[in-house]
Amino acid sequence: QNIHIIGAATTFGQPRLGVDLGPDAIRYAGLDKALYSLGYTVTDAGDIRSKYRVNASNHSVKNETNLLNYKEVMDFSLELAAEVDNTVSSGHFPLILGGDHSLSIGSLAGISKHYEDLGVIWYDAHGDLNDSRTSPSGNIHGMPLGISCGVGDEDLVNLYNRGIKVKPQNVVLIGMRDLDEGEKLYIKENDILTFTMGDIRAKGIENVMKEALVHLEGRTDGIHLSVDVDALDPLETPGTGTPVDGGLSLSESQLAMEMLNESERITSMDLVEVNPLLDEKNKTAEKAVKIAESLFGKKQL
Ligand code: ARG
Ligand code: MN
Ligand code: MN
Ligand code: MN
Repeated sequence: QNIHIIGAATTFGQPRLGVDLGPDAIRYAGLDKALYSLGYTVTDAGDIRSKYRVNASNHSVKNETNLLNYKEVMDFSLELAAEVDNTVSSGHFPLILGGDHSLSIGSLAGISKHYEDLGVIWYDAHGDLNDSRTSPSGNIHGMPLGISCGVGDEDLVNLYNRGIKVKPQNVVLIGMRDLDEGEKLYIKENDILTFTMGDIRAKGIENVMKEALVHLEGRTDGIHLSVDVDALDPLETPGTGTPVDGGLSLSESQLAMEMLNESERITSMDLVEVNPLLDEKNKTAEKAVKIAESLFGKKQL
């Protein structure tokens, strides 16, 4: 199958400038070569970039309802959704490089058109399940999964195609260690299968991935994998805007990705929150490439 890389060069979902340079940082770390070596053909759409210029003074402007850079995120999401939709229509595997995690509003809007019961694996330190009332920050990168599940700003929820993109019972959260109160409540009320770092330490990542796949088996007709590099420990991936201590190791993450590869169930992927301006010699983008390699079939020694 052909892997179609889409650079989602957005920074408007959060305040740290530089995350829009993430797609090129990941390319420069050798993504296409790594995927070629695994036997795939690879095409690259280049970057989708907001028509709004980013600078230190226009960034982080709130709308009436506590949403930062609302219009910028809205316009960007629409463009990305169309590109992702076309990619799936063409039979290619969409690999979306971020960019901040608000881009998943667009990627899920585009992908979900093609599935009745899309599953989502959210590999992240955060749930990204806030809405404008529960968010402590107003940053939309803390909201994309909630929006895709139908919670929050009506126009974002109905973006690109009307209605809910993902059912909460089709979501699995992995790597959680920073959840806001409103997110905890939402998870509880909707009974979302959640593996915190505590669960992962107790059960081991192998058992966690098995449980995740069993949960999604049968009930879903495709699985979108959304990897936020802050799922990994900041010692592994320092180049990211909202690092949280106590995360997954590279090796655990590679094992998790290998198991997803073996399942043959993953149909699209986001790889997000790489910010080279916060990084050490592009180390975080290099880890991102290793994660992609494992998802596409490379085995650890
Ligand atoms: N929960 C916090 C917030 O809503 C942090 C979200 C971080 N999200 C991310 N994609 N890195 O502001
Ligand atoms: Mn995160
Ligand atoms: Mn927090
Ligand atoms: Mn995230």
